[in-house]
Amino acid sequence: MSTEKQKYTRNNPFMSRMLVNSRMTDPVSEKETRHIELSLEPGMDYTPGDAVGIVPENRPSEVAEVLAALHLTGDERVLDHYKKEISLEEALRTRLAIGKLTRSSVVQYGKLVQHADLQLLSQAEHRSKADEWVYGREFIDLLREYPGGITNPQQLFTVLARLTPRMYSIASSQAMANDAVHTIVRVIRYHTHNRDRQGLCSGHLGERAPEGESMPIFLHANNNFRLPEDPTAPVIMVGPGTGIAPFRAFLQHRKAHGHTGQNWLFFGDQRRETDFLYKDDLEGMVKDGVLTRLDLAFSRDQPKKVYVQDRMTENGHELFQWLERGAYFYVCGDATRMAKDVETALLDSIAKGHNSTPDDAQAYLAEMKKNKRYQLDVY
Ligand SMILES: Cc1cc2nc3c(=O)[nH]c(=O)nc-3n(C[C@H](O)[C@H](O)[C@H](O)COP(=O)(O)OP(=O)(O)OC[C@H]3O[C@@H](n4cnc5c(N)ncnc54)[C@H](O)[C@@H]3O)c2cc1C
Ligand SMILES: NC(=O)c1ccc[n+]([C@@H]2O[C@H](COP(=O)([O-])OP(=O)(O)OC[C@H]3O[C@@H](n4cnc5c(N)ncnc54)[C@H](OP(=O)(O)O)[C@@H]3O)[C@@H](O)[C@H]2O)c1
Repeated sequence: MSTEKQKYTRNNPFMSRMLVNSRMTDPVSEKETRHIELSLEPGMDYTPGDAVGIVPENRPSEVAEVLAALHLTGDERVLDHYKKEISLEEALRTRLAIGKLTRSSVVQYGKLVQHADLQLLSQAEHRSKADEWVYGREFIDLLREYPGGITNPQQLFTVLARLTPRMYSIASSQAMANDAVHTIVRVIRYHTHNRDRQGLCSGHLGERAPEGESMPIFLHANNNFRLPEDPTAPVIMVGPGTGIAPFRAFLQHRKAHGHTGQNWLFFGDQRRETDFLYKDDLEGMVKDGVLTRLDLAFSRDQPKKVYVQDRMTENGHELFQWLERGAYFYVCGDATRMAKDVETALLDSIAKGHNSTPDDAQAYLAEMKKNKRYQLDVY
């Protein structure tokens, strides 16, 4: 990754052009997952394993709702975090997190409006109650339930957190994508407290970022998620759902550079017919020998759920043989459940393969970690 890349950062993003923004999952799928391609300028270099940061904007309709609830027009002038004077509309659209409500916002707002509920939720001993209350709510819910707190628009900068960029694992190798960066975005949509809601950045990308549109981005190095330096080393990748992203980049890179190491991918999602992300790419890589093994787990294609870790367990013996041959093991995707379950399955394969105790398996994994042969990119 070149040092020039640092020219663009989260506070000084590159105005990229949306080259491709297409739905990958079938319209009847329960999920909307999109393939995105964004333009880069010369000197913006990335390495497989890196992420792209995308700077989103709040939905104009939500900004309008907040302005209406505040009885303000949006033309009012405010000073942003850098003391730059901008309109209130711009502040609400580009600077302030009016989506997902935080406990801290409730506490700050509670200082401005006298209401027993807010005083209660602000107390440290009621932290879990406050966490429960904010879950699934946004700033507009707070304003509507407890109006009158904001008497000067500048107060919004005290109450609301700063709007922050979101990271997306890069799904391309620059050896193939040249002056573009690819990623995959799962669009978050849900219904809580009688309203349809969406994730800030994934919603923006899913709804308001058509091809040709500008999008502020920056590249983010992740030196803890890297292909082995040895091009002959075997690689095992576990990436269900959007977790497939960096592995497409890994495989493209290994193919483009003629790395001869074997590659084994575990991928899973809900249904083969509707959610097989990069099906053609992956099947093509199996055909041309880049992907030595592709094991799939479509969780909802049969009555009993099947996950990637089940496929690992079914192939535990061979998996252990790969590890013994020096394979690097990578996991990407959901941090809360999947990554933990995959680690358990890995430990189980190690213990069985070694005919050893769970403690021995832990020691084996610790050694892998030390040698950077066990790497995670989970979120
Ligand atoms: C290193 C890294 C790599 C990543 N790579 C990818 C990637 O390749 N692809 C990808 O799609 N994402 C990836 N992510 C996640 C991504 O950065 C965003 O967090 C994700 O897109 C959600 O952001 P958002 O702005 O759309 O949603 P936000 O506005 O941040 O909203 C998400 C939040 O909404 C709330 N929420 C969601 N559903 C519900 C519900 N049903 N009920 C109540 N509340 C709910 C939850 O609190 C959730 O945390 C990555 C993250 C990291 C850190
Ligand atoms: N509300 C939210 O904010 C929300 C919701 C979902 C995901 N996410 C996050 O978005 C990221 C990627 O989502 P995604 O939709 O691409 O993929 P995902 O939710 O991780 O789902 C991909 C596949 O993994 C399966 N899965 C579920 N639990 C698992 C487990 N414990 N172990 C292994 N596999 C498991 C899913 O099966 P089933 O779905 O059939 O169980 C599905 O087949 C993750 O970080 C996830 O946490 C956020």
